[in-house]
Amino acid sequence: MTSSRIAAVDVGNDSLKAIFGKLEAEINLPNVIARDIEDRPVIGIEELDSKNPLDGIHIRVHSPALKENNVIYRVGNLATKSDNASELDPGSSKSEEDQTLVMLFTALALDAVGENNTAEFKKSGNVVDASYTLGTGLPLREVKEGKDSGYRSKLMGSVHQVEFLITPKYQGMKVNIKFEEVKVYPEGFAAYINLVMDNHLNIINKDLIDKRILIQDIGGLSTDIAVIKDRNVDDDKAQGFNLGVSESLEAIREEIRTKHGVEMDSRRDVVEIITRKNNRNHIMVKGSRTSVHDITDRILLDLAKKQYRLLRNVWQKNSQTEICYFVGGGSIVLKDYIKTLNNNLDGFNIDFFEDEKESIWMMANAYYKLVADHSRRLNKDKQDKKPVKTN
Ligand SMILES: Nc1ncnc2c1ncn2[C@@H]1O[C@H](COP(=O)(O)OP(=O)(O)OP(=O)(O)O)[C@@H](O)[C@H]1O
Ligand SMILES: [Mg+2]
Repeated sequence: MTSSRIAAVDVGNDSLKAIFGKLEAEINLPNVIARDIEDRPVIGIEELDSKNPLDGIHIRVHSPALKENNVIYRVGNLATKSDNASELDPGSSKSEEDQTLVMLFTALALDAVGENNTAEFKKSGNVVDASYTLGTGLPLREVKEGKDSGYRSKLMGSVHQVEFLITPKYQGMKVNIKFEEVKVYPEGFAAYINLVMDNHLNIINKDLIDKRILIQDIGGLSTDIAVIKDRNVDDDKAQGFNLGVSESLEAIREEIRTKHGVEMDSRRDVVEIITRKNNRNHIMVKGSRTSVHDITDRILLDLAKKQYRLLRNVWQKNSQTEICYFVGGGSIVLKDYIKTLNNNLDGFNIDFFEDEKESIWMMANAYYKLVADHSRRLNKDKQDKKPVKTN
């Protein structure tokens, strides 16, 4: 039997999260791409081997699913450093952007050539033929508009090729990706599945399954509030907002730069400063420990208030809601502020995830559960249909 490998991929506006196979491999990439030319300068070819491939993704993508074919891109960390880097625009449709596909194909290609890969994909010379059973998602809004089926057919219909150009370790490799199956789930529903079911879709949270719940997913560029009722997402009630945490992190970074003359490398560094256990909200300025609490407090409290208003609004329209779960990277950053606001204001029944990773990987975990279950059923059907051997 040809082996098709499971891939669960959450193409977040801020970063892509992917889980593979029997959970043995995962990939996290900033969702940033930049168009490039073939011969990007490298310092020396020897240097390529010692570097982490994830920091030097340079590829050409060939796929009929793309609007612009055969374009060369820098992807992830490498693209971040480029001056023509493009990040997804909050108003855009994930299912219709080349960027979404480029990110998705990159992650799959990295897995296909990676050493954690346990699948036995056919390899001839530098070419790997990879087959995946994919579980992924789209914002509820796009699923409502019926864009999921077009997205699925684009993926299913053809072979997509990723060629690694000047990428450490993988330079010269080509991966042909085809899909045995593609399942596209609505994001809010997926989060619910992850809350109530384990990896075999057994119910792990009996208390929760029949409750009316809200799931507020605060991402990098967007916030989605899913309304769950009768074990299903209520399509009409769910809402998406173009309000994420990235802008506030950027504002903090900028203010630290102007006020203290200290340059942070990335938003991730800002997250580190505001969430770490020791020395939280402090930086070193010319060798002295300096508080930046005034800056972070003001900017994050402001965002927390906006998020709280969204919650209040949706709760008002769904008055029989029993609990709201906050997920996504933004929830980690805003947790204390939202809790304090809630204590002083409406006192809604709200909850957060203690485990940061659980909060951020919520969608990817859910897609994994759903698609792994789907694949098990499919294989079982195949087994059942096999003619019984008689000798
Ligand atoms: N522990 C953490 N690790 C990584 N990022 C974090 C962490 N805590 C907070 N963040 C921040 O949370 C933000 C949102 O991350 P998340 O992965 O939820 O967004 P996303 O799903 O990619 O975006 P969207 O939901 O808008 O599509 C990022 O800006 C990130 O910097
Ligand atoms: Mg997200």
